[in-house]
Amino acid sequence: MVAIDGPSGAGKSTVARRLATALGFGFLDTGAMYRAVTWHFLALGCAPAECAAEPDQGRARMAQALAAMRLELRDGRLLVDGRDVTAHLRTREVESQVSAVSALPFVRAAMRDLQREVARQGPVVAEGRDMGSVVFPRASWKVYLDAAPSERARRRCQDFAGQGRSVSEAVVLEEILVRDRLDSTRSDAPLRRAADAHYVDSTGLTTDAVVAQLLAIVRSGGPPSHPAGGPAAAPTVGGPS
Ligand code: DC
Repeated sequence: MVAIDGPSGAGKSTVARRLATALGFGFLDTGAMYRAVTWHFLALGCAPAECAAEPDQGRARMAQALAAMRLELRDGRLLVDGRDVTAHLRTREVESQVSAVSALPFVRAAMRDLQREVARQGPVVAEGRDMGSVVFPRASWKVYLDAAPSERARRRCQDFAGQGRSVSEAVVLEEILVRDRLDSTRSDAPLRRAADAHYVDSTGLTTDAVVAQLLAIVRSGGPPSHPAGGPAAAPTVGGPS
């Protein structure tokens, strides 16, 4: 188990995917899981902003929707009730709500179970916010991948441009700073660097250079001395599998 945490736009997904390929490990993008749940809540009209006027009722609807939802990870794709939603996960609508959704303890508990179940099936590179600190505290290697906020905003703008959307860097930077604050101040599993995580700053570095640093960390760390942490859990969230 390699656990990679860090803020939005630090390049975790690209680097983690490449590292997983180089090591022959599976790849677990846990942000995509929170995004898929957010997409589902938006599709049902019960995302946090849509329920702001009646938060208790909104939470009950979200809990119900989550319990009935079947989330599957298949070959790097995210399926909600059998529908492949991967292409819908990086929109600004999802981004505007995902921090609020991922702060909900019942959502985190369900995602944690699913993430541990995936890790029980074989070695993985898992990336997110609480991989090394909460979900896999006994991971063999832990990395906290960071980058300057301005560079993270520039990378996100490039992602949006790839989707054919032009968004100002200043607006994206503002959104990133809001998301950083929400992700690092929530009470359940906030974004933070695990005490035993290697700190890597990707500002100004190419993807190749960052992957090389992480490979050096893994290869210098010796063989895993203990299995990744976490009890057994259900293979899918909610609904019949
Ligand atoms: O890494 P990302 O930008 O795809 O993550 C989307 C959101 O999900 C982000 O706002 C924080 C949240 N997240 C989380 O709370 N815990 C994780 N392990 C992964 C992501």
